[in-house]
Amino acid sequence: MDRRQESTLDVPFTDTNTQSPSIHLTYLTLDCGMKEDRYAFLAEWYDPTAALLRRYQLFYYPKDGSVEMFDVKNQRIFLRRTKYEDLHQEDLFIGNRVNVFSRQLNLIEYGDQYTANKLGSKKERTLAVVKPDVVTKIGDVLELIYSSNLIVTKAKMTKLTWSQAADFYMEHQTKPFFNNLVQFVSSGPVVAMELMGDEAISIWRRLLGPADSAVARREAPQSVRAQFGTDGIKNVGHGSDSLAAAARELEFFFPSKIGHGPSNTAIFTDCTCCIIKPHAISEGLTGKIVNSISSAGFEISALQMFNVDRANAEEFYEVYKGVVTEYPSMVTELCSGPCMVLEIHGTDTPKSFREFCGPADPEIARHLRPTTLRALYGKDKVKNAVHCTDLAEDGVLEVQYFFKILDG
Ligand code: TYD
Ligand code: MG
Repeated sequence: MDRRQESTLDVPFTDTNTQSPSIHLTYLTLDCGMKEDRYAFLAEWYDPTAALLRRYQLFYYPKDGSVEMFDVKNQRIFLRRTKYEDLHQEDLFIGNRVNVFSRQLNLIEYGDQYTANKLGSKKERTLAVVKPDVVTKIGDVLELIYSSNLIVTKAKMTKLTWSQAADFYMEHQTKPFFNNLVQFVSSGPVVAMELMGDEAISIWRRLLGPADSAVARREAPQSVRAQFGTDGIKNVGHGSDSLAAAARELEFFFPSKIGHGPSNTAIFTDCTCCIIKPHAISEGLTGKIVNSISSAGFEISALQMFNVDRANAEEFYEVYKGVVTEYPSMVTELCSGPCMVLEIHGTDTPKSFREFCGPADPEIARHLRPTTLRALYGKDKVKNAVHCTDLAEDGVLEVQYFFKILDG
C-alpha cells in the first residue's frame, strides 16, 4: 500500500467505546468557573467503503481551534478533541462542506440553540449576477466580494435566452425599460453567484451602488457600478433585494432539481482546463487568481464552481495514480471544499496556459518562474493553487469531465 495514502488517513479517530461526559452540554465549564465557547453541528459524511451516509455531532472550540466528533448512531466518540488548524470559525455555517482530517463533512444543522443564535442569525444567501458588460472583469468583482467578507458558495457562467431573461425580470415586465433590460442581459454571458455571509443581501446591494452608474459615481464612488458601470442599463450587476427574492432568484439559476437551470457556456474546442483548488478558494484568492488569468490575456469561456466528491476526484486524477506520489493527497485536496473550474479558450492554450501556471512545486516556481500562478498563490506541491491540463490532447476531455459530466 502506498505509504502516503496511509499517512493522509492517519488521523486521531478513535475506535473505543468511551462516552464523553461533555457531549450533551452546551458549554464546558472550566476550572475557573468560566464557560468555554463550543459550537455544535450535525454533520454528514459519506463513507465510500461502506457506501453509507454517517451522521456525527461536530464540536468546534474557538478558543484553541480544536474539534471533536461524536458518532450519533453508535453513540460514541469518533474523534477526541484535537487541535485542527485547517478549520476556521467562518467556515462553520449550515450548507457548507468542511474538511476534517480528510473527511468531507456536510454541515446540515446547528447542533444546539446557542450555536444557531451565535453563528446563524445574520447569515444570508443572495443572488449576484455579473452582467454581460463586465464579465471580463469578473476577477475584480470577485475581489470586491471577498474583501467585503462575503464568500461565493455557487457560481456559474451562463448565457440566458431572451425568454429566460424575461422570466428572471418578470417583476419589471410593465416597466418602460423592460425590453432593453432583457435584451441587454441576454446579449452575452453573465456570471451568476450565490453569495453567503452576514447580511449578504444588503452588503452586496451596497457594494453594487445605485442602479444608474452615473448616480453611483456621484453618490457612491467606491461602488462596483461607479467603478465599472456605463449607464442605467449597463450597470454591472444584479442583486436580490429581499430574502424572498433571493430564494426565488437562486432557485432560477441554481435549481434544487439538477440539470434544470440555465446551461454553462463551455465550447469544448481549442481549450484547456484550469481548476482553482479548494485551498485557494477558502483562502479568498479566487478573485486574484481570476484577475491574473484575465490580465495575462487568457479568455475564460466557461466558469463554474463544483463540489467534487472523492469518487469523482479519484476518477479525474486517474492518470496520476501510481505515477505521481502526491496522488492521494491531490484527491483529498480536490474534494476538500468547493473548487472553481475554468475553460480557457484559444489556440495553443494548453501549452501557453501551462507555462503561465508554472512548475507544479510552488517553491521551485518561486525560484525559476516568480510571476507564475503557482509561484504567486501556491503553498506546496498539493496546495499549489491551480490544476491545469498537462497534455494538449486532454484539454477538451478535462473540460468535458466538469462541464458535460459533472454539470449533467
Ligand atoms: P431595479 O430593480 O430598479 O434596480 P437594481 O438592479 O438596482 O435592483 O431595476 C432592475 C434593472 O433595470 C436595473 O439594474 C437596470 C434597469 N433599469 C433601467 O434600465 N432603467 C431604470 O430606470 C431602472 C429603474 C432600471
Ligand atoms: Mg432589483
